Amino acid sequence: MADSADQIKVKRVYGRRMGRPMHKARLDVLDTILPVRQIDSAILTEKSDLKVSEIFGRDVGKVHFEIGFGSGEHLHYIMSQHPDDVFIGAEPYINGMTTFLKGFSDPVPDNFRVHADDALMVLNSLEKASVDFLYILNPDPWPKSRHHKRRIVNESNLDVYARVLKDGGVMLQTTDVDELADWMLMQTLKCKDFEWTAETFDDCKTAPNGWMATRYENKGKDAGRTQTYLSYRRIPRTRAS
Ligand SMILES: C[S@@+](CC[C@H](N)C(=O)[O-])C[C@H]1O[C@@H](n2cnc3c(N)ncnc32)[C@H](O)[C@@H]1O
Repeated sequence: MADSADQIKVKRVYGRRMGRPMHKARLDVLDTILPVRQIDSAILTEKSDLKVSEIFGRDVGKVHFEIGFGSGEHLHYIMSQHPDDVFIGAEPYINGMTTFLKGFSDPVPDNFRVHADDALMVLNSLEKASVDFLYILNPDPWPKSRHHKRRIVNESNLDVYARVLKDGGVMLQTTDVDELADWMLMQTLKCKDFEWTAETFDDCKTAPNGWMATRYENKGKDAGRTQTYLSYRRIPRTRAS
């Protein structure tokens, strides 16, 4: 357990934490599943030395991390595709968290952990080169220029994503907001630790193999918007710091 001096600082999360009032049946998962699958906040520290194996209490294989998983459709899907891997998801919107947790039947698998708050609290705590796959799917666009600093893909957060990804690790960003797609690509390419894996521009308009579109993505398509998929590789540390 961390000294209180090391304890991670809680920053303000922009966006809503609560939506419509929930029925008791939905709220039950917050008393049953959440306490046993959430990351103990006492192990989140400013020291950036937390091992994923400490979070799970055992050795782990490949590590997937999803920032802002919404209702968790994508997280459930990738869990079904990679049953031997481990999964960490952060989502402060409590209605989304309950939807995700309600999607499990007994026995609830032990290969995932959640954080009902800012993903950066967990990412900043992790030791470097901890994560194999990082997903940032349809992040809030914050369209007004004075709110751009709230965007989850920004210069300082990209340094954190580069730090926690393993050499060759993958970061996937998606959005159906064209201006945000341009922003995320520009911000990420400014970071010397990432290379864009697209070979042609069309690649970013084509879903990765085996992709499952979330409800959010499908709603955008129904409204005539086009989804952009931006996939990057973490450049090995021998080639970049
Ligand atoms: C537009 S929604 C997209 C949800 C989901 N990724 C999808 O594609 O369906 C963006 C989500 O990011 C979450 N979010 C915003 N800031 C966050 C942060 N700092 N850490 C974790 N999640 C965050 C919001 O609560 C919201 O649920």
